[in-house]
Amino acid sequence: MTERIRKICALLPAARVFADIGCDHGYMTEYMLASGRCERAYISDISPKSLQKAKTLLAPYIAAGKCIPVVADGLSGIPEPCDLVLIAGMGGEEIVKILSLGPLPEKFVLQPMKNTPKVREYLLSQGAKIECDLTFSEGAEKKKYYDILKGTSCGEDEYSPMERKYGRDNLRGASEAFLQKMQEEREKLAFRMQRKMQPQSRRRLLEEYEEIGEIIDEIKRNL
Ligand SMILES: C[S@@+](CC[C@H](N)C(=O)[O-])C[C@H]1O[C@@H](n2cnc3c(N)ncnc32)[C@H](O)[C@@H]1O
Repeated sequence: MTERIRKICALLPAARVFADIGCDHGYMTEYMLASGRCERAYISDISPKSLQKAKTLLAPYIAAGKCIPVVADGLSGIPEPCDLVLIAGMGGEEIVKILSLGPLPEKFVLQPMKNTPKVREYLLSQGAKIECDLTFSEGAEKKKYYDILKGTSCGEDEYSPMERKYGRDNLRGASEAFLQKMQEEREKLAFRMQRKMQPQSRRRLLEEYEEIGEIIDEIKRNL
């Protein structure tokens, strides 16, 4: 199990019916079932080959009727309401596309690989309450950064524009991972600004560079 998968598992709440959409290997469902955190789980993937990995891993639970495999696009193959839906390891636009085809699940854990602000925008537009919205890292030398969102369908949460862009817990708390990510982003911007470019593009990059600089200073004050 990778650090990313362990982190996702740690944020999964208990549920009656759990759905792991885009399950691939099925490790998160194995965690839910083995720890007794759900009564029943659906494992779903658009790719039969990917789903086969989870079917192999979860064969004893499938035989016991506690895990139901489906080949389907998004939530379309799930025949009953699930009180907890996990969608991890996909792009933010794909996650929004999947969620927008039905009502928001009662509880959700989402781990977009990119375009996280689009996922936040969608959740907030649907009246969700976002309980956890942070960046974590994996690896020692060359770190990878991931965003994760956990919440519930009701709550009419309110976010500032900066929270929509960077993640609320990242700005309110003092996270080492987010600090490192911001420092790397700023270095990349500084590098890009050395190139020749239109004054307008340079101004935009400079604004972003300064915005990130202010975020870094704020996190350092809170650490
Ligand atoms: C990178 S893997 C992530 C696997 C696992 N959820 C994780 O986070 O480690 C993405 C999986 O999502 C599946 N997938 C992509 N789009 C999908 C969709 N619209 N509906 C269901 N599964 C999808 C892919 O086939 C693939 O197995």
